[in-house]
Amino acid sequence: MTDATSTATAGADFVVVANRLPVDLDRLPDGTQRWKSSPGGLVTALEPFLRSRSGAWAGWPGVPDTELAPIADGEITLYPVTLSTAELTDYYEGFCNATLWPLYHDVVVPPAFHRHWWNAYVEVNKRFAATTAKVADNGATVWVQDYQLQLVPQMLRGLRPDLRIGFFLHIPFPPVELFMQLPWRAELIRGLLGANLVGFQLPGGAQNFLFLARRLVGMPATKSAVGVGTKLGQVNLGDRAVQVGAFPISIDAAAFDSLARSRPIRKRASEIRDELGNPATVVLGVDRLDYTKGIDVRLRALGELYAENRICAEDTVMVQLATPSRERVEHYQRMRKDIEQAVSWINGEFGRVGHPAVHYLHQSMPRSELTALFVAADVMLVTPLRDGMNLVAKEYVACRNDLSGALVLSEFAGAAAELTGAFLVNPHDLDGIKNAIEAAIIIDPEEGRRRMRALRRQVMNHDVRHWARSFLAALGAA
Ligand code: ADP
Ligand code: G6P
Repeated sequence: MTDATSTATAGADFVVVANRLPVDLDRLPDGTQRWKSSPGGLVTALEPFLRSRSGAWAGWPGVPDTELAPIADGEITLYPVTLSTAELTDYYEGFCNATLWPLYHDVVVPPAFHRHWWNAYVEVNKRFAATTAKVADNGATVWVQDYQLQLVPQMLRGLRPDLRIGFFLHIPFPPVELFMQLPWRAELIRGLLGANLVGFQLPGGAQNFLFLARRLVGMPATKSAVGVGTKLGQVNLGDRAVQVGAFPISIDAAAFDSLARSRPIRKRASEIRDELGNPATVVLGVDRLDYTKGIDVRLRALGELYAENRICAEDTVMVQLATPSRERVEHYQRMRKDIEQAVSWINGEFGRVGHPAVHYLHQSMPRSELTALFVAADVMLVTPLRDGMNLVAKEYVACRNDLSGALVLSEFAGAAAELTGAFLVNPHDLDGIKNAIEAAIIIDPEEGRRRMRALRRQVMNHDVRHWARSFLAALGAA
């Protein structure tokens, strides 16, 4: 990656704006620094798409108080947006991840409402809008991403009415009753209405938004036709209309499929099974360490299955990867302790020397190792209490080209709307999860192949390019 100050003046005709850049600046203890891949599904989905078409990406480089010049990264120019240490606390950890994140995820933990967090959110959104206004070419298309930047569409329209602005929310858009708790609810809806097109993961989120636009901003909205893809609702603002629709996000399915088929990955997958002691069944969980992901729920289910002798640690071993996430936010710290306690309880009760029942790794893995784990796993557990989509579920399916493997999937993940061939579970129903895990372990191979074939048909035919194309086509027509 090189400094792009001299080449970055021309203006980009396509700009992605997201809280994070696709890469994070990592400062090592010896004072050196390097770039590493940013965490989370937003980057997993958008990065391969943007690299395939070129453009600009404005975002935060992952460390505070750092001013960086634009960076040329292959076909993309990165425009770093600076956050101060105080903004990291009030905007990122505060309003984004202790107000909006829990509020939008069914108040799984109680959201906190603080005026100084809100003020920081407004200020940082202004900065993102100003940076974008500077880097976008005349008449450019700007695609604003996610809950951290919901005011940017309106602010950007104020600065640059010539732009075509799309907004996509990667997380669930909450039911009206929950959204109404937010003291700044009308401001957020007005912020989003600055876009030409507002996209959600599921039709339900789009319906909630249309209802709120009418109720809070008093705008007539047409909501009867909202559906997936081309069926859009509309909010009429007098001088212009805002299109609203559902665009379920996906992955670079072909890339996962071909990596999973490659010889080195297959070899590594078989080594992983050896390293685990060649159990009959390898169960896998892969998540950011987030309280919405239901990691505790699946550990409890597994622990009870061991305790009831419905499975035994000799035959069935679990690997749980948990990417470190939002580590200074209180609820994340508490959840990490609970999960680590649950893992050590299971291992204490059911493990043997050299053979833990649960292998827990609080680490981020390279893509190749992650893919090898997907290939090695017989049963994948994806049990969020609420999730916008959950790309891990789709990644697992994309890696199962031999049609083996079973997916246990929460009904409350957006992916459940598409992946109906999975073992769908209510993550609040512990007995239901236990039954589903057991059924997934002992599934008749022919039935397993039938289910996996259906899952793969959906994932391979609806990849991230399909998602981006359908969003951008709707934006182009808006
Ligand atoms: P979220 O965006 O909430 O984190 P998703 O499931 O949609 O959830 O996306 C998570 C992304 O992060 C996936 O691409 C997944 O492969 C990746 N990921 C999750 N855990 C790890 C890990 N421990 N190491 C590397 N990548 C991970
Ligand atoms: C989810 C959110 C993204 C976010 C990612 C990682 O995917 O939808 O907006 O970037 O989690 O979270 P972080 O707080 O580390 O950016």
